[in-house]
Amino acid sequence: MNEYFFTLSASDSPEKKYPLNTAYSLLNNLTFNHITSKGKCGGKAVCGCCRIQITSGQDKCNPPLAEEKVYFTQIELDQGWRLACQTYCLRNIAFNLPD
Ligand code: FES
Repeated sequence: MNEYFFTLSASDSPEKKYPLNTAYSLLNNLTFNHITSKGKCGGKAVCGCCRIQITSGQDKCNPPLAEEKVYFTQIELDQGWRLACQTYCLRNIAFNLPD
């Protein structure tokens, strides 16, 4: 079985690597690793509070869903902004977790 990782950058801590379970959304992976709790809407793309910016591996993720396009402009989507609750990645990925 392949092991994949996500690398997380946050403004208040150094970059760190965590195991990635590709069967689950990035929000669930953040929860599994005790980094953040479920979003306010429980991962239903309603609250917009689980924004992340992918810096590497965006091409290995599912494309942005219509629900995400409510929260981001096309430029932001092109810059890697996504809702973590709607994003699944099949390989290693790196992303920023804004404050
Ligand atoms: S958790 Fe609410 S939009 Fe992602």
